[in-house]
Amino acid sequence: MDYDRYDRVRAVQWQGDHLRLLDQRLLPQEERWIDCRDAAAVTQAIRDLAVRGAPAIGIAAAWGVVLAARRGEPLEPALAMLRAARPTAVNLMWALDRMKARIAAGADAAALAREAQAIQDEDLAANRRMGELGAALIAPGSGVLTHCNTGSLATAGFGTALGVIRAGVAAGRVARVYAGETRPWQQGARLTMYELVRDGIPAKLIADSAAAHLMRSGQVQWVIVGADRIAANGDTANKIGTYQLAIAARHHGVKFMVAAPSSTVDMATPSGEAIEIELRDPAELLAVAGRRTVVEGAEAWNPVFDVTPAALIDAIVTERGVIERPDAAAMQAMFGR
Ligand code: MRU
Repeated sequence: MDYDRYDRVRAVQWQGDHLRLLDQRLLPQEERWIDCRDAAAVTQAIRDLAVRGAPAIGIAAAWGVVLAARRGEPLEPALAMLRAARPTAVNLMWALDRMKARIAAGADAAALAREAQAIQDEDLAANRRMGELGAALIAPGSGVLTHCNTGSLATAGFGTALGVIRAGVAAGRVARVYAGETRPWQQGARLTMYELVRDGIPAKLIADSAAAHLMRSGQVQWVIVGADRIAANGDTANKIGTYQLAIAARHHGVKFMVAAPSSTVDMATPSGEAIEIELRDPAELLAVAGRRTVVEGAEAWNPVFDVTPAALIDAIVTERGVIERPDAAAMQAMFGR
């Protein structure tokens, strides 16, 4: 397929001596770049969601280690600081473990930069492969619903679930795209719609609460989402709201696909129950676009991920292949050592 036609944003860019990040808090109104010159700045960008999406935070963290090495900083504290930036997406820990192994092998800053670049390049290649594999599961003329943002902004490029949708559109398999707005941070409304409009892919935004109604209307045949961590039994943590989409999909006979690179698979976590779910500041729920919408004195609970049980997932698509009706045995066969 013509990748340049469908994939033109690069949110994480190594500049030779510093890391440049597209500030995703400001999109789509403003395209402002942040220049990170040390690991602390990268950690803050991850924590504050200036860079977000499981693969993208792993890539950014790898470059954070490179920055620390170039500055001659002690690397153990830098690794620990980056690792603690967010708890749920295992790509962060996976990328840092790769960097740590290179450090243990005596790598200097230049060798660490080659490793970070390899992590970034492999992610793009994985996404393109997943796009082909995932799109092949979709019958021509189908409608799809996605959640959160899983596109070029969330990855090295092309995207996971959004990559499958891009490949599906290019192949004439996906005829209708719907994106849930993804309260409270609006990754779907602000970021996925930004990418789809830039690509010229016709898509409709829906309120998160319209999803079951949409499924009932017969306009979507697949829900396609990304993942932040896939446990050894196939249980999948992803953006809050994913679980209720999977329940509604099963009820309506709509298929449910998870697309993620193998760096999102965590075979050391036996099931979804063991995945730490990030709780963020209730203030994110109590205001819209920075303006308080809820009465003073009100409280809120703001978990930003949930776990979809493997039993509700029809297919997990990674660059290594497709697992239909995932369970521990199938996961072990594809990802076990
Ligand atoms: O809080 P975020 O925006 O980092 O959450 C992102 C998601 O949940 C994505 O669906 C997931 O990371 C997959 S991105 C390819």
